[in-house]
Amino acid sequence: MNPIGVFDSGYGGLTVLREFLAKLPEYDYIYLGDNARAPYGNRSFHTVYEYTLQAVEWLFSQGCHLVILACNTASAKALRSIQQNDLQRFDSGRRVLGVIRPSVEAIHEYTSSRHVGVLGTIGTVLSNSYPLEINKLHDDIVVYQHACPMWVPLIENDEYLSPGADYFIQKDLNALVSQSDEMDTIILGCTHYPLIADRIAHFLPSHKKIISQGNIVAEKLADYLQRHPEMERKCSKNKTRRFVTTDSVESFELRGAKFLGESFSAEQIHL
Ligand code: DGL
Repeated sequence: MNPIGVFDSGYGGLTVLREFLAKLPEYDYIYLGDNARAPYGNRSFHTVYEYTLQAVEWLFSQGCHLVILACNTASAKALRSIQQNDLQRFDSGRRVLGVIRPSVEAIHEYTSSRHVGVLGTIGTVLSNSYPLEINKLHDDIVVYQHACPMWVPLIENDEYLSPGADYFIQKDLNALVSQSDEMDTIILGCTHYPLIADRIAHFLPSHKKIISQGNIVAEKLADYLQRHPEMERKCSKNKTRRFVTTDSVESFELRGAKFLGESFSAEQIHL
């Protein structure tokens, strides 16, 4: 078995896996959520790097040749170091990809005003990955950012439909949209946020588009596999799905089902 590995600090990456399963159902997948150590969003660069590397090594040990970091914080703070410094220790065919680059590649299809907002964790926003990557491809797009440190804890703790959550959603959205009237597109730069996309839309003027990453990343993965037949051949295709968490299996199965859109059985591991 050589499944495609999908990693997130917790539940958020399940919103990406959900789109992989819809778009590329024939492959085997293993999902790892590091729920015991989530959220990653306000952890240091070094800690996010160390945790993410441990997760990637574990997924490699399970037969994965391709691992997707379905977490913006890990993509922003750990992906480049892993690609440049760590991959060479493993056999040469292994690859780790993130979610920021695919999202950025698609952005010009959404914005007409060329003013784009990004919502993410403190780590993702402070890394400046979105403005840097967007401006590498489109130097005329102006990027505004705002970090929402309360959103992931509210989502991870199943409090995202409470009046308390609405307070923080509204407050953080105002802090982003007040930066420019011209902003017509907002990237949900955290894979947890699709769970509150309806609440976000509720508080936003209707002409502003909200971009969730799952379907974009799934499209780009399909494209990547087509352009890399040597990797495509290494990914096994028996339609198996394995779900693994570093914390309680019961909570992971119960809450994770809302993110994935279907129920599943999980197992616990220690990194
Ligand atoms: N889903 C993550 C992201 O996309 C997680 C955030 C966190 O653990 O704080 O950034």
